[in-house]
Amino acid sequence: MSNVLRVSNVTAGYGALRVLHGVNLDVAEGEAVAVLGANGAGKSTLLRCLSGLLPFSGEALFLEQSIGGVAPHVIARRGLIQVPEARHIFPDLTVHENLLVGGTAMPQRSDRMRVLDEVLALFPILAERRRQQAGSMSGGQQQMLAIGRALMGKPKLLVLDEPSLGLAPMVVRELYQAVRRLIDSGLTVLLVEQDVTLALQVVSRAYVLEGGRVALTGSAAELRESTHVREHYLGC
Ligand SMILES: Nc1ncnc2c1ncn2[C@@H]1O[C@H](COP(=O)(O)OP(=O)(O)O)[C@@H](O)[C@H]1O
Ligand SMILES: [Mg+2]
Repeated sequence: MSNVLRVSNVTAGYGALRVLHGVNLDVAEGEAVAVLGANGAGKSTLLRCLSGLLPFSGEALFLEQSIGGVAPHVIARRGLIQVPEARHIFPDLTVHENLLVGGTAMPQRSDRMRVLDEVLALFPILAERRRQQAGSMSGGQQQMLAIGRALMGKPKLLVLDEPSLGLAPMVVRELYQAVRRLIDSGLTVLLVEQDVTLALQVVSRAYVLEGGRVALTGSAAELRESTHVREHYLGC
């Protein structure tokens, strides 16, 4: 299997503050991989590097091409599409309009409509709320919209930054059912989560980031059994 993403020795930070210290990480085609870690571990910083929003040293290859110094919109056009922690939907646009904004890279209307139908099938609530102003929806529905909009960009790697953050448990369950369906469909996913139990239910492998370093990596089953993970992240 070929690598969709290969991160080697990536170091980055903000001004004099160094946050990432030589991170290595791979994602193969069709794989779902998680980056786990406590608040402040550097998860979002890593994603900013991958999306072209933060300079870094070291190497990051997406589909065998370097990401270093490449502009965010170019990286997105290549197919690395991120749903940021803050979601960034357009609150004044309708659900439908938000989704169409995500599909502007597809020149053919018929393609846009086909992908739109797939997104609405994955998140039926978005079909129900199609004409509603996005800003008036619940947090969970806005998260689904943010993921739906990213899917409209036909990602080759979908990157999710803490999709469960701030959502009620019932909504999280529904959201993760959709994430699981996406993974089962063969989409390559990099999932960042603080909720270790939740993430290990859907991914096949994970990296645990601590203080900007990969402290531990392994299959979901290995990490669930790891004493370190149990003590520090699962509270058991
Ligand atoms: N824009 C920023 N400017 C300065 N420091 C930042 C900025 N964003 C994050 N940091 C710092 O970088 C570290 C890692 O943050 P972050 O990558 O957001 O962690 P995580 O996503 O794992 O919670 C933290 O110490 C945080 O305070
Ligand atoms: Mg974060």
